[in-house]
Amino acid sequence: MSKFYVTTPIYYINGLPSVGHAYSTIIADALARYHRMKGEEVRFLTGTDENSQKNVEAAERAGMKDDIQGYLDQMAARWQEAFDELGFTHDRFIRTTEADHAQAVEKFWKAVEKTGDIYLGEYVGLYCKGCEAFYGEADLVDGKCPLHKTVPEAIKEKNYFFRLTKYRDALLEHIGKHPDFVVPASRRNEIVSYIRDFMTDISISRASMKWGIPVPGDEKQRIYVWFDALINYLTGAGYGSDDAACAKWWPADLHIVGKDIIKFHCALWPAMLMSAGLPLPTRVLAHGFFTVNGEKMSKSLGNVIDPVQIARDYGNDVLRYFLMREIRLGEDGDFSLDRLAQRYDGELANELGNLAHRVLTMTEKYFDGTVPKRTDGFLAGAWDGYHLAMEELRVHDALEVVWKLVRESNQLIEERAPWKLAKLKEEKMLADTMYVLLETLRHISWMLVPIMPDTADRLLEKLGLAPAKEFSQAVEVAWRWGELAPGAKIEKGEPLFPRREGSQAAEARGNS
Ligand code: MSP
Repeated sequence: MSKFYVTTPIYYINGLPSVGHAYSTIIADALARYHRMKGEEVRFLTGTDENSQKNVEAAERAGMKDDIQGYLDQMAARWQEAFDELGFTHDRFIRTTEADHAQAVEKFWKAVEKTGDIYLGEYVGLYCKGCEAFYGEADLVDGKCPLHKTVPEAIKEKNYFFRLTKYRDALLEHIGKHPDFVVPASRRNEIVSYIRDFMTDISISRASMKWGIPVPGDEKQRIYVWFDALINYLTGAGYGSDDAACAKWWPADLHIVGKDIIKFHCALWPAMLMSAGLPLPTRVLAHGFFTVNGEKMSKSLGNVIDPVQIARDYGNDVLRYFLMREIRLGEDGDFSLDRLAQRYDGELANELGNLAHRVLTMTEKYFDGTVPKRTDGFLAGAWDGYHLAMEELRVHDALEVVWKLVRESNQLIEERAPWKLAKLKEEKMLADTMYVLLETLRHISWMLVPIMPDTADRLLEKLGLAPAKEFSQAVEVAWRWGELAPGAKIEKGEPLFPRREGSQAAEARGNS
């Protein structure tokens, strides 16, 4: 059986999750669900990056400077609650303050040291706390960090360094040979130019910090947070604690990251793995960033969107649908509540919701709520297009395939006008039309399993079927045309996407 090991970035917990953090995790969750649906063995890892100076400062601000761990415990618990409420299906929520992670980091450090890739040097650099990274003068804009617009601190100390430049050629060769290592291609070019022209050895310890994992053999120094954080992907596989699990899960099949952290994931991390003698992850997907109503989402602008609130207002599936439909995976986008409401009214309530409602109502009316006799279908190519899009990490295109079916079905209703067929007693044509519509709805449900899991199960239930994960045969059977059994009872129930009070569609309906 093939396996799929997918990860998200681990998040800093100096605040609560924003819709940006939810975005990385939603994509990972959808892909995890897709591979589970295919019957693969899946491991989905997410969690929190806790050995960061940012968290320490947040603890101090919260009046918990003497109990940093207590602060982290509280925050990590709140993140876990949020992720549970958002319905994420991670197999582990890793925290980098956990004991098995410290163990993995120690083992990894020693492996890299043994290769001869760690040396002691003097570090003089400009450190941005926001990024947890050093900058060269040339990287700054008006002397400030380009991301945080703050003046970085000048730091001089004795540090341990990692011989990153030793891996320059090997990294370029790997990326050249594996065009899929960095997706999308635009990011690949960016990373190649960084590796070729700008990459330097990096300092991987801090003498000035008190929080973090101690350097093995030199307890006065703490390991640089990024060196420790990246290793979480190995800890999550079992490295350092469970060799059999590690052999099974490593290398990761997919790291999902935002475009802001690709240098760490596509240069530093693979070089670290090469140094430790471990295989590299198969793919790194860099997704884009989104603004909120055209502006950068930031605490100082006060426009940070809380994903849990949106999920409470609209439902988890609507948030998932919006993010995966509005933003082409890999590109930048914009988040706007108006756009979300528009897509809810137009695509979810009107197109999908209405389709289900009409088909189920007509089945009740003309066939006493039972599925009519089987007939041939018209789904040619839809599943192929859907799978290809999911495999190539074009989730937006997979949704496009689904919506094509939704629209074609609505069009079929208009063209065939079942109410006219009923009047004219065109029974065969009426039965064929209704079977095609019901069976297409069943296929739509299955395609939505990874993307809108609750909606998929509700729709299956309306069609008189069990939830997707209770399907007892090989999933390919569920994807075949004609699996909806004639004579089965449907269950219309409540609308999938009730009209919102005050929405234009609701007003239009009220006026008619
Ligand atoms: N802790 C590091 C990652 C370590 S991984 C070994 C980190 N954490 S973070 O909390 O700052 O958030 C990381 C991720 O959140 C980003 O890479 C990105 O995936 C996501 N996003 C945060 N804001 C976002 C947007 N506005 N838009 C899209 N994604 C965003 O970096």
